[in-house]
Amino acid sequence: MTRKEAVRKIVGDRPLRAREKGKAYAPANIALCKYWGKRDEELNLPVNSSLSISLGSLGATTEVVAGGDKDTFRLNGEHIEGPAPALARVSAFLDLLRPSPDVFYHVNSTSTIPVAAGLASSASGFAALALAMNDLYDLNLEGKSLSIIARLGSGSASRSIYHGFVEWQAGSRDDGMDSYATRLTDEWRELRLGMIKVSHGEKAVGSRAGMKIAKETSRLYRAWPEKAAEDLLSLKEAIHLKDFHLLGRTAESNALGMHATMMDSWPPILYWQPQSVEVMHQIWRLRSEGLPVYFTMDAGPNVKILFEENSRADVEAAFPEVTVVAPFLHP
Ligand code: PMV
Repeated sequence: MTRKEAVRKIVGDRPLRAREKGKAYAPANIALCKYWGKRDEELNLPVNSSLSISLGSLGATTEVVAGGDKDTFRLNGEHIEGPAPALARVSAFLDLLRPSPDVFYHVNSTSTIPVAAGLASSASGFAALALAMNDLYDLNLEGKSLSIIARLGSGSASRSIYHGFVEWQAGSRDDGMDSYATRLTDEWRELRLGMIKVSHGEKAVGSRAGMKIAKETSRLYRAWPEKAAEDLLSLKEAIHLKDFHLLGRTAESNALGMHATMMDSWPPILYWQPQSVEVMHQIWRLRSEGLPVYFTMDAGPNVKILFEENSRADVEAAFPEVTVVAPFLHP
């Protein structure tokens, strides 16, 4: 099935009439149980279910206007000119709802993610774009459909449709209609995420390539789906019980397990920089001294620290460069 066919399943053949403008906001998210490996590369269908926490007011606001004779994309005030991969990805996503090849769009997106946070922006970017297109064409799609459409832009974008804790069910259908995210009702107001930016540069291997190499070449990867399923259950229990140690321990182990599959790949992938490892050791040292802090990492060198508000002063003292996010204090 193609991505366009998947969108047609949701939107049907109704005529699409653009309003003056579509506009939407979507938060970034950090996975505590990672999406790692695709069972379908065209539709971004995952091997395993995942669970994330959305970052409240850190995210993307996107406006879409139909018109012009080519797609244009402005990101944080800067025109992204072709043949930039970012413009090509946005255009390819717009193709999914473009009613005919002579319809074009002006996309204007601004991100509130501070550069110092070192966070990827594709999840909030594609989720905001999916929501903005829903607004532009007055589609009134519900969360499930929006999550499916956002997933076609970037897997993790399926989770950025919602605030709070979000679970993305892997599903098993070939058309992916059962692979979408839902919001968990639980809140954890004291929970904090601390972002430590380690590197400014473009990473050498993107997450799409990284998960493909791991799935195809790592023997350790064979154990990944089972580990992810167990971790997901533990995380849901931790959230339900508000057991911070269980949450932190499971998220940290899940991230390290994902990175283990990369080190076991051929060619090997190591996203860690020396400073990433230093931060990990510092967190382990703080923990051995009794401070309840854990970390998670995505397909890059930056480290995200998990802690609760009552540890904030100690975390900020240990990591003066940290950007702290309170995911549940920004509805
Ligand atoms: O959505 P993508 O293709 O950027 O993949 C995201 C992969 C990880 O960030 C490593 C894990 C996750 O679940 O977000």
